[in-house]
This record gives sequence, C-alpha cells and structure tokens, in this order.
Amino acid sequence: MKKVITYGTFDLFHDGHYNILKRAREYGDYLIVGVTGENYDIGRGKLSVHDSLAERIENVKKTGLADEIIVEEYLGQKIGDIIKYDIDTFVIGDDWKGKFDHLSRYCNMVYLERTKGISSTQIRSEILTTYSIGIITDIVDDNQLVKEAGTLNSFRVTSVYSDDVETAEEFQKKYEGVSAVANLDEFFAGTDIVYIRCATEKRAAFIRKAITQKKHVICDPPFSFSLEEQKKLYQLAKENNVILMDNVKMVYIHVFNQLLWMTQGGLIGDILSFQCSISRNDRDRKNIFYDLLALGLCPMIKIMGGEYDNVDIQISKDSEGIEFASLDFKYESGRVLINVGNKVRVRNQLEIIGSSGSIKIDGNWWRGSYFELDDPEADEVEIYNTNYHGNGFKYLLKAMADMLANGRIDTMGLFQDESLKIIEIVEKVKEKETTES
Ligand code: CTP
Repeated sequence: MKKVITYGTFDLFHDGHYNILKRAREYGDYLIVGVTGENYDIGRGKLSVHDSLAERIENVKKTGLADEIIVEEYLGQKIGDIIKYDIDTFVIGDDWKGKFDHLSRYCNMVYLERTKGISSTQIRSEILTTYSIGIITDIVDDNQLVKEAGTLNSFRVTSVYSDDVETAEEFQKKYEGVSAVANLDEFFAGTDIVYIRCATEKRAAFIRKAITQKKHVICDPPFSFSLEEQKKLYQLAKENNVILMDNVKMVYIHVFNQLLWMTQGGLIGDILSFQCSISRNDRDRKNIFYDLLALGLCPMIKIMGGEYDNVDIQISKDSEGIEFASLDFKYESGRVLINVGNKVRVRNQLEIIGSSGSIKIDGNWWRGSYFELDDPEADEVEIYNTNYHGNGFKYLLKAMADMLANGRIDTMGLFQDESLKIIEIVEKVKEKETTES
C-alpha cells in the first residue's frame, strides 16, 4: 500500500483545498492529511485563521478524501510523521516549491500546481471587517505596527498624525500605505482605532479626543501621570462604548500566561521575593523613564497584585529627569524590588523566588519568549518557551479583534484595575521627582 501525506491549515475550506486533496490521493492508496493545530499557527505568527481546528478537521473529513487526519502541532513534526506513518509520497502546493526539498531523503516529494484565483487569505479579506488604524506619534517609528497589523486580515494601518507635520510626512515616506493627515478631525474621521505613542504629557488629551470621536484606543502606558485622570478616561471610554487598551504585549503571549498560571496557582509556593530590572536603549526616544517604569511594574502587578503595604522610592536624576529609580515594595508575603534604568544601564532580568521553586528570565523579559523554572524537588531547571514572531504586537491586536468580534470593551490581558495600580505608583514616583527638584 502506497501512503501519501499532505498538510495545510484548510481555513475556510475552498476548491483549491479540495483539488489538492483529490490530486494527492491519486499518488497512492492511503491519504493522511495534517491539519495545523491552533498553537502551531499562533507560534508561527499565523493569527488570522478564522475556523477552529475542529471545523477545519470536519471540512477535510467531509470531502471523503482523507483516510486519516492528524494534527500538525510543531515545527519539524513532518519528518517524524513521515517516519512514523511510513510515508511514500509527500504532496504540497507549489507555493512551497523548494521549501521541502530536504524531505526527499525520506520519501518522494511532489509539488502540485495551486488552483488559481483562490486562497483562504482572499476569502478572509472578503468576509472579515477590516479596521483602519491611525497612529499618533512624535517620532518616525511605528513600533512595528504596520508590519504586525499586516499579518492579520482584520487590520490596516492607514494614517499618521503628528503635532510636527514634517514628522508625519517622513513617516508617510517610510511606511507604504500610511498617509500623513495634518488635520486631527480628519485623521479621526478616517480611523476606527487609534494607536497613541507620543510623549506621555500629551497622551491623555489625545485619548480623550479619540474616545469622544468613538474611536478605540491603544496607548503606550502610562496614559498620564494622574490616577484621577486615568479613571476619568476609563469612564469616558465606557460611556462611549469603546476599548481603551494599554500597549503591553507581554500579557498576550502564551508563555507569560504560563508564568502567571504557575505563580498564581501556587505551583512555586508562596512568593517570597520578586525582582525585576529594566532598561532599554531607544535611540529615537531620549527620555522614556516613565514608559520603562510602567512596563517594569506590569509583571509585579499581575503576579503580586496591587495590595502592597508600603513602598520606598529612590531616584537619581540628571538635568533631563530621572536616570535611575529603585522601588522597594513590602508585601505581606515578601519583598519586591523594581529597578528602572533610563540612561543608567541595568541588566534586564526577572526573578521570582517561591517557597517551593523559583522562576528566572535573563534578558528582555517583557518579550515573554521564555522562562526557567528551578524545581528543587526534581533538582532540575525546566525551560518554558514560546515560538514568537515580531515584537508581539500582532498578539495584542488579535486579542483586540476578539474583543471587537464579541462586542466586549473591558480588557482582560491587563485589567483596568491593574493598569490603575500602575498609574498610582507612576504618580508617586512623579511626585517624588517634582518634590526633589
Ligand atoms: N492550495 C492549492 N490551491 C489554492 C490554495 C491552496 O493547491 N488555491 C494548497 C496549498 O498549496 C497547500 C494546501 O492547499 O498545499 C493547504 O493550503 P492552505 O495554506 O491551508 O490554503 P491557502 O488558501 O493557501 O491559505 P492561506 O491563504 O491562509 O495561506
């Protein structure tokens, strides 16, 4: 018996899919179809898939062409499958031409011509609502939003606004398809979602304007230096039924949720100590102290909660503002230390010591790509990681797309009360900065 295998996502099942399965079957007596699992697609950055795995499997099944259906769960699985199922021929569409040549060591490799004029991408773009995103910025940099949004079918970055017209024009030149709009009302009129990444002092005013024009907002945290102001912004967003979301990508990445699951679920026991350090070289943005602080506080608030007994804040300043800060929190269960280096370089790391295990991330922990769990009982260090594409923006956008589809406006990556706790601390540090000058 000759066995054939082929793979695909088979989203929004179409004639192209049917044709390739039919032709693949003709290469043998038994056809195995590998359908991509949801985690595999998320890991390789394909977040736009519309149908669930169960629906996609069901659609392949309904053709009656597959003798067996398997799920493709990780990169490199194909080699193991060929060996396991004793495959004679591997069939795939010629959009992959050359990409699987290395498999010819294991079995016959056949690339079949794709059916012209149809693809899942095209169907998705026809059936999905596309939201226009506008960026408000002071610098000619999109934080990779244009590229990341482009990988999802439901978003397109269409416009940019800057208080400085030249910056917006430069931006337009740099990013294809993005138009500079000089008039703010016109800018809002052409967008569904606004991404605000200008200087902190200006964010709240832009958020207010965007919300009153009924635009959903993604904004770099902190939204402002005032807790009261942020509360009002949330209230306004609620009244206007729009989303107001922090641009914190980490909380939308799988591995961070695993970390949260472990710490909140008591898997490393009581948390005795939490330390987190952050600094970043951002050539275009000189003073990003408060952005770094807000990001640095995020894992603390998520993991330890916001109910600390007291905080001791040490800051070191130069003429342009804070260059380094150390925040020492006393929680009932243990101690938390947050170090933020603005111009002072600190080693980025996050360490959580629990009564029955500890967790560590060396390097840029906010990217949420891995963590190490030291399990003293097993005397082993286990590594948890996620395949991760781009800077994570697409995972945040995917969460937003789900919220829009479900008509929900409250964010669950970073809850409003968590974001407010961060601002409460930001406000304290700002006060300290002002009183010490
Ligand atoms: N395929 C085909 N003809 C098409 C579309 C897909 O022969 N018009 C083949 C692909 O080459 C692949 C299989 O069907 O071997 C599954 O492809 P998949 O990636 O699931 O479908 P696409 O329509 O290409 O999906 P997308 O637009 O999301 O890439």
